[in-house]
Amino acid sequence: MIFDPLSGNWTLGPPLAAPRRWCASGACCGAVFVASGVGSQYNTGVARSVEKWDVDSLRHRRRWNWQKMRNLKDGKFSRDAIDGVGWRGKLCMVNVSGGATKEGIIYDIEKDSWGEMPEGMLAGWRGPAAAMDEETIYAVDESKGLLKKYDHAKDVWAHLMVDERLKGVHHLAAAGGKVCGSAADGSTIVVVDVAAPPPARLWEVAAPPGFQVSALHILPRLSNNAT
Ligand SMILES: *[C@@H]1O[C@H](CO)[C@@H](O)[C@H](O)[C@H]1NC(C)=O
Repeated sequence: MIFDPLSGNWTLGPPLAAPRRWCASGACCGAVFVASGVGSQYNTGVARSVEKWDVDSLRHRRRWNWQKMRNLKDGKFSRDAIDGVGWRGKLCMVNVSGGATKEGIIYDIEKDSWGEMPEGMLAGWRGPAAAMDEETIYAVDESKGLLKKYDHAKDVWAHLMVDERLKGVHHLAAAGGKVCGSAADGSTIVVVDVAAPPPARLWEVAAPPGFQVSALHILPRLSNNAT
């Protein structure tokens, strides 16, 4: 389903070729990607499949549907609901969330090809991650409460801050110079201003009373007068 922030309406998107849970999903370069997952039963074809929906396809006068892309080499990415992080024309994903031993792969959108994640990037991917403007990846090491930023030239993660309130954070989102995550108990949203000169500043915003954060997205600033 698709939410249009301007009209406030939800509409149906094109149907997926196969129903799936525990899949990897993410957005990059104006397209939504869904990879792997399991339907009512495990199926190797579904667990290895990758589908892409070009959200602007109507505007580009292309067909409004999911396109089959290059398959994954195996079905290993079907055991957890994973965020595919859109970054520099690529989609990065790991096979399991949290700090467990994992495998990481990167999809090159233009080449429609899959490759291994660089060693340093994979080693530091120990919790939720999100990309700012599809340019810079931030991740929280959820056991240490450590926020870091990926340096692709050196294939290392630069440490930005350690804070108790970042421990166990999930559902990371990054936009407008801020990195936000839902706190371990879901009662608050932890916000870090990563655009300001260091040291980075952190504060918390309470979730609406009676609600727990189960997903986090930052919408663009809205204006009905936008042309
Ligand atoms: C993820 O990948 C790692 C490394 O290949 C493997 O040890 C682990 O069992 C996988 N986890 C799941 C949940 O598939």
